[in-house]
Amino acid sequence: MKINKKNSLSFKVLSSVSEDKIKQLYDIHLKSLPNDIIHFFGYDIEKKYILGLIEENKCRIIVALSNKSIVGFIILRFGFFNIKKIIDLSSILRFLINSILNPMLILRLTYQLLKPNIIPKQSCEIDYFAVSNRFKSQGIGKKLLKIAEKTAKEKKFKKIFTKTYNKKLAYFYINKKKAVLLNKYKILHYLYFCVYWKIN
Ligand SMILES: CC(C)(COP(=O)(O)OP(=O)(O)OC[C@H]1O[C@@H](n2cnc3c(N)ncnc32)[C@H](O)[C@@H]1OP(=O)(O)O)[C@@H](O)C(=O)NCCC(=O)NCCS
Repeated sequence: MKINKKNSLSFKVLSSVSEDKIKQLYDIHLKSLPNDIIHFFGYDIEKKYILGLIEENKCRIIVALSNKSIVGFIILRFGFFNIKKIIDLSSILRFLINSILNPMLILRLTYQLLKPNIIPKQSCEIDYFAVSNRFKSQGIGKKLLKIAEKTAKEKKFKKIFTKTYNKKLAYFYINKKKAVLLNKYKILHYLYFCVYWKIN
């Protein structure tokens, strides 16, 4: 579904993705949020995660495109996805090797497993949200959020929940979206903000 087109920039809501598009999502995600835990399991796990969400009809992927290439995206997730289904031995080994190089990874993973997010009722979740460096701070994120809200509303959700360690963005949600700060916690030097806001 095409939503808008302006200066060769267009926005789309995808319910399926090609391998090439998954690679583009992965590259932007890795460059924008290199410390996200999922990267340390390897590309295949992120690919299986996205394909798993699509197969179970548990997400919409909202993308910003410039000349047919993805330059920003939001993965809007509907409900729980059991990540254990996609983790295999080679990805565990990869994670363990990465943990030898960076022992704090184990601590962060343990914390996240022991303290899962409590998501408010009638909420869907912004899972991943990233815009590639060259296109940041030009309003693409705001447009992606607007489309995410419209998509959530169409799916009958009343709220959007998200978790971020981008402080500037957390305050954008609180001040501009009138988001409620549910929880704030620190894992090592990462301060996480859990927020939700009502969709108008
Ligand atoms: C956060 C991000 C997705 C926003 O996309 P964007 O296109 O740059 O955003 P916009 O220009 O529409 O601005 C929206 C808000 O995002 C925040 N933002 C914008 N540029 C930012 C940057 N370079 N770094 C951090 N936050 C930024 C600001 O709060 C901004 O609102 P404001 O200008 O009213 O304060 C993008 O900057 C990014 O990929 N950052 C790194 C990854 C990240 O933190 N992802 C979100 C956490 S899961």
